[in-house]
Amino acid sequence: MRILATRRLPGEAWEELSDVEIGALDGPRPDVEALIVAGDRVDGGVLDLVPSVRLVASYGVGYDNVDVDACRARGVAVTNTPGVLDAATADLAMALVLAVRRRVVEADALVRAGGWGSSWSAGPFLSREVSGATLGIVGFGRIGAAVARRARAFDMRVLVNRRRTGDPDYRELDELLRESDVVTLHTPLTSETRGLISRERLALLRDGATLVNTARGTIVDEDALVAELVSGRISAGLDVFAHEPHVPDALLRLPNVVLTPHVASATEETRAAMTRVVVDNVLALARGEPLPTPVS
Ligand code: 8YV
Repeated sequence: MRILATRRLPGEAWEELSDVEIGALDGPRPDVEALIVAGDRVDGGVLDLVPSVRLVASYGVGYDNVDVDACRARGVAVTNTPGVLDAATADLAMALVLAVRRRVVEADALVRAGGWGSSWSAGPFLSREVSGATLGIVGFGRIGAAVARRARAFDMRVLVNRRRTGDPDYRELDELLRESDVVTLHTPLTSETRGLISRERLALLRDGATLVNTARGTIVDEDALVAELVSGRISAGLDVFAHEPHVPDALLRLPNVVLTPHVASATEETRAAMTRVVVDNVLALARGEPLPTPVS
């Protein structure tokens, strides 16, 4: 079975694939039966290039890069990598919460610039306490729940916007935005969540609040977010952006923002586990067995 992967994936499981070619899909490939993508867009035009394809195996839990309806219409299966990256993603979300609230990156820059002696003991370098702060979690699936466990260990008060019977921590989204000191996003990108954190909703955030996004950039109105950050009213920890790898220029100069290049799942362990899931799906296809993680 001919497999085309847009890149080699890390981890030992990769070696179990035979007949895999690594490269871009930049012309017709009627021989390809399984396509492995990592964030690359797969739409009707791409599917036209691979008329024999039976599986699009996407390296990631979010599969907004794949036009699932177009795949379904052609009888092409789609798989993702759920469950194996919850801890790594939750860790990065907490790292951004801590880095922004405690001004870790600014403090590091100050030390490197030789500024410790002059301004350290004076008032200006104060940061915000994490313990006792309210964390609003938007999207309460596996990753959101993993963030909640970590936040509670840091003595944060946790609010969620997914209702479970009798949950005292449930808030409607707007209420959650108003009541939180820190808001962290963990919803998939869908037609319902695109632009969910609109200009109007950003305005609901408290003065001094922090927005953390390790989900998808376009869940937030990025222009409105940049305006709020430039004004200094709020702060942010951002791992994802609307037009990656482009990061709005204005953000690069701001002290109230910590920026990372879409690395929430990027630990050796998690990336190897994601590769394992991709490989298991491709091997299942080759053997005619049920796919382990089809998207519904
Ligand atoms: C991947 C991700 O790095 O799982 C996801 O949804 O965003 C990341 O783990 C990305 O999908 C590129 O493959």
